[in-house]
Amino acid sequence: MRRSTITILLGLTLGAITAPALAQGKLTLYCSSDEAWCQQAKREFEKKTGISVDLTRKSSGETYAQVKAEASNPKGDIWWGGTGDPHLQAAEEGLTDAYVSPSRNQLHDWANRQAVASKVRTVGIYSGALGFGYNEELLKKQNLPVPACWKDLIKPVYKGKIQVANPNSSGTSYTMLATLVQMLGEKEAFDYMKALHANINQYTKSGSAPIKAAGAGETVIGIVFAHDSVAVAEAGFPIKTVVPCEGTGYEIGSMSIIKGARNLENAKKFYEFALTAEFQNMAKDVKSFQVMSNKAAKSSPKAPDLAKIKLIDYDFVKYGSAAERRRLLKKWDDEIGALAR
Ligand code: G6P
Repeated sequence: MRRSTITILLGLTLGAITAPALAQGKLTLYCSSDEAWCQQAKREFEKKTGISVDLTRKSSGETYAQVKAEASNPKGDIWWGGTGDPHLQAAEEGLTDAYVSPSRNQLHDWANRQAVASKVRTVGIYSGALGFGYNEELLKKQNLPVPACWKDLIKPVYKGKIQVANPNSSGTSYTMLATLVQMLGEKEAFDYMKALHANINQYTKSGSAPIKAAGAGETVIGIVFAHDSVAVAEAGFPIKTVVPCEGTGYEIGSMSIIKGARNLENAKKFYEFALTAEFQNMAKDVKSFQVMSNKAAKSSPKAPDLAKIKLIDYDFVKYGSAAERRRLLKKWDDEIGALAR
């Protein structure tokens, strides 16, 4: 047989082998939840559908910026996870597509409110309260008092001991910014963040990085979602979780189909998959301890109980609006970020 014939035959055989996988197509998933949960979503969806998933994990604000930058030539199909505010901003700016899920009746009201606020361009997939965590061993070793309230975190005794993310990249940190503005009023919130700045050793890119750093002993305190702090404690690190005594804000983690998705049908399949109680129940296996949006999904007993936390009436419509999010982030850059340089 001539070499060219062999090559063609080989090509045909390989084609036949890979054909079923190709037939199921692919999905480009932008994920802003915790890395381990993103990987689980990819794995389980591929197993269930045979659709191959190309996954990118980036923080909420970063993913928003990427979707916006790619708007004229979209590369992502679906954006799953991350705080709701940048999903709402993307919806308002027409970067994501309207989709009415046949599963919407299975969801909690707070998840559907996100859909109503965005003209069905996004939906709630989980919820979790903001708090902080500290490394108990380091705290004791350094003779530091146990922090219990927002007001404790600005005490000079914690100088250089606290880490939090940058609100431009991180939805967690933007949730803190918007929470403080709602709890204290804007001027007082910025005064608070200036005072807090004196105690910050690093503004990280990702929202959960500060508590992972606390687990590793690189900082004493990390301001994060309470469920992220519980996850690090569950992984065996000496971390204690605090829900601030004054009350706190919370997120509605969200999901949106990207406008111009090249694999739209597969994006809808993933959307439905991500709303099932079956998939949401698996989150705890990868230490994602949020409250899930499907009413039939059971939260882990380790998940912080939102009913027992003093939550503010977070105004998602206002703080997820493009103008307000842009304005507050610019103000943060001018007044707080500038101090870091
Ligand atoms: C973690 C939390 C999620 C949250 C996400 C936001 O993964 O578990 O509940 O939505 O952080 O990430 P970001 O890096 O944008 O703050």
